[in-house]
Amino acid sequence: MTAGRFGRLTDPPASFLVTDVRVIDPNDGSDVVRDLAVIDGFLADPSTASDRVERIDGRGLVAAPGFCDLHTHLREPGDDAVETVASGSRAAARGGFTTVCAMPNTEPPLDEPARLAWVLERAENASCRVRVIGAVTLGRQGEALADLGAMADAGAVGFSDDGAAVPSSRLARSALTYLRGVGRPLIEHAEDRELAAGSEMRAGPTASRLGLRGWTPSAELTIVERDIALAEETGGRLHITHISTAAALDAVRRARGRGLPVTCDVTPHHLALTDAWVAGSRRFAWEEPDDAPIDVEHSYDGLCRVNPPLASREDALALLGGLADGTIDAIATDHAPHPPERKLVPFGEAAPGMIGLETALAIGLAAVEAGHLDLARLIAALSIRPAEIINERRSLAIGQPADMVVFDPSTRAVLAADSLASASSNTPLLGVELPGAVRLTVAQGRLTFRD
Ligand code: DOR
Repeated sequence: MTAGRFGRLTDPPASFLVTDVRVIDPNDGSDVVRDLAVIDGFLADPSTASDRVERIDGRGLVAAPGFCDLHTHLREPGDDAVETVASGSRAAARGGFTTVCAMPNTEPPLDEPARLAWVLERAENASCRVRVIGAVTLGRQGEALADLGAMADAGAVGFSDDGAAVPSSRLARSALTYLRGVGRPLIEHAEDRELAAGSEMRAGPTASRLGLRGWTPSAELTIVERDIALAEETGGRLHITHISTAAALDAVRRARGRGLPVTCDVTPHHLALTDAWVAGSRRFAWEEPDDAPIDVEHSYDGLCRVNPPLASREDALALLGGLADGTIDAIATDHAPHPPERKLVPFGEAAPGMIGLETALAIGLAAVEAGHLDLARLIAALSIRPAEIINERRSLAIGQPADMVVFDPSTRAVLAADSLASASSNTPLLGVELPGAVRLTVAQGRLTFRD
């Protein structure tokens, strides 16, 4: 990966013309092959582009609004050996993301305005826009509310104790009450710590065969139902992040049916990978499952440990259905870099998390190819819907600042660690053939990635 393929928000504005590109804009449902011009960083009428503007052949490519990731771990401050604002933003740009929301479980946590400001300052010359999510409780300790209003004023687009749920119902209620006035969502990592304590992977036949301690879906459902009750009572906006079970999805579906202010996102890995990956399977949820028992070479692989754990196949298929029907608003990566020494350890000791910014589109395209998702819905779930959740808009209309991605949906490549822009490579997708490649990413009118 050469640094020259990446640009920054501080670069001069871009000018180019992409010809005959399939432009999919979920804002108005349009899907047409046409020319698309960017002049001095703004979308322009292609007929006004002078001959000196570079022409890029867009045949076979798709242009869409830039992607927005609601759930990214940039690891700064505190763990800059595994990721930095700079490297994480390059991974984002390579994945087609023009905005990422940085989670606050850093060291120290982002629980006060000065710490948010520190991250935002580092992000000024990054390769994508960085938004910050503030911690709900001081130090993410779950004991006292942080100053949510001051952090909102400092730019927090939402609040989360991600890595853990807000453990106290009383504090979750106070946070939702307060946030109703602030107009920002509570972004909940739904996990009852008592029910989840000690678990290593998703409960079920695979956990039993491997002898690993199982995590039960009630660990997610109890917090989702608690928070829905609190959102109903307070009118505060609730966003459930990395939803992973059919039971929790049904609870969200019912809440939305009652008109409650509840949204949710799913990770690419909970859509496509299943608990069978912990036993060495490398088949996607929509493929026929392996009937072989344990694959010794790939089993107990710490790269497959995430929190919440990889879902059962039935849950993954239910999540795909929830994404297709719009119950799940957004795809969010939960990009969670970790070094080998935290992964090449006994399964139950491995740090949970996998990187995801550079593979999210590919997994989505694989689900589209398998007939589980339509391309326009995939694009909406990666771009305009997550942006709306943080009160932002994406537009491909002429006159707007260019914020877009151009990708080739049909090329295929085997994922290699040395191709990654992230400073970490912890993903079990290494060695797996995936569809799609981003060709251009344009954030705030600047070319942030080009291949
Ligand atoms: O898998 C996960 N990794 N889930 C989380 O909630 C936290 C994240 C991390 O920070 O590594």
